[in-house]
Amino acid sequence: MKEVLKKVCEAFRIKGMFVSYEELKVGNINKTYRVTYRQKDDTLKDFIVQRINTNVFKDPVAVMNNIDLVTEYMRDEAPEKNVLHFHHTRDRKTYIFDEDGGFWRLFSYFNSTTYNLPENPEIVKNAGKAFGEFQMILGDFDASQLTETIPDFHNTRKRFEKMEADIAADPYGLVKDVQEEIDYILSVKDKACTLVDMLAKGELPLRVTHNDTKINNVLFEKGGTKALVVIDLDTVMPGLVAYDFGDAIRFAANRVDEDSKDYEHAGVNMEMYRAFARGFLKRTAKVLTENEAATLALGCFAITVEQTVRFLDDYIMGSTYFKINYPEHNLVRTRCQAALAKDMEKKLPEMEEIVRHYMDKYKNRV
Ligand SMILES: Nc1ncnc2c1ncn2[C@@H]1O[C@H](COP(=O)(O)OP(=O)(O)O)[C@@H](O)[C@H]1O
Ligand SMILES: [Mg+2]
Repeated sequence: MKEVLKKVCEAFRIKGMFVSYEELKVGNINKTYRVTYRQKDDTLKDFIVQRINTNVFKDPVAVMNNIDLVTEYMRDEAPEKNVLHFHHTRDRKTYIFDEDGGFWRLFSYFNSTTYNLPENPEIVKNAGKAFGEFQMILGDFDASQLTETIPDFHNTRKRFEKMEADIAADPYGLVKDVQEEIDYILSVKDKACTLVDMLAKGELPLRVTHNDTKINNVLFEKGGTKALVVIDLDTVMPGLVAYDFGDAIRFAANRVDEDSKDYEHAGVNMEMYRAFARGFLKRTAKVLTENEAATLALGCFAITVEQTVRFLDDYIMGSTYFKINYPEHNLVRTRCQAALAKDMEKKLPEMEEIVRHYMDKYKNRV
């Protein structure tokens, strides 16, 4: 591995002596390494060297073009904030292909802590602030410049259409075992599609969204709770604010793990919900439209239903997309997401009220 990493570093014109490397195993899409170099003045400097998963990102060059546009814009718009800095090769590219077709990039390392779990409300609030700030800085960015690198990623209606076609085809004869799950998910179809329908009617704006707002995609001060920077910009695409908000809640405020069989306990942890909403709205209240604010809570439900659809669809189609550890894995995930969606539906009025509260609180602050 050392030789491969060294070659990548050389291509990105890193000067000095290769000292060591370490694989960082937090993410589960890309291969991520921290590489340490000794510089001319004898100090050590770290970089992140990453190999993009080209099974997920079929057009990695378009991914990098999006990232270049977005990071450049952010640096210009908010020079005082941290933004990932991607190094260039001699021919001014932010990526290289190796001999095996591997796609590599190199960017700035932050001495930081990554939290996989929402350990406390302070961390969740600050993750909310970080993602909210990301939205704010990109508020006037022209989203049409970006390539939709994963087409229809959060087109909830299309996700439903595909699942319904797959149910009709039923290639593995599994549909008869999941009728209860199918009945529930179809019963909430229109409600879950509210936001994409509003977008189609021009009632919600298309913005630049992050699309992977997990808490482990924010780097925090070493050992602390202050957010330093938003990372993992691969899925930055045009999208709906409420889906970023909702996906964050789906992860940070679920009382159980996505893979849990403890369906009874799946549900929204309101303390974490409140914390994230507070941080997010503190940064975004001034720019969100009325419709956007009014649909943030519903966005949590919509994206959770969408995720249920994706797990259920993959189960019916023989589990080829999501990595599984046992045959029923995607069915377990389906049930756990459905339980979370049901709890969100029940708590929707309360979740909406919390958004309204922080909207009022932060909207008119100077
Ligand atoms: N610039 C960075 N500085 C420090 N750690 C980083 C940096 N970029 C990524 N990491 C670490 O590597 C992990 C995986 O990186 P990420 O870009 O999120 O890849 P994935 O798409 O696989 O999730 C992060 O969760 C974080 O812990
Ligand atoms: Mg990540």
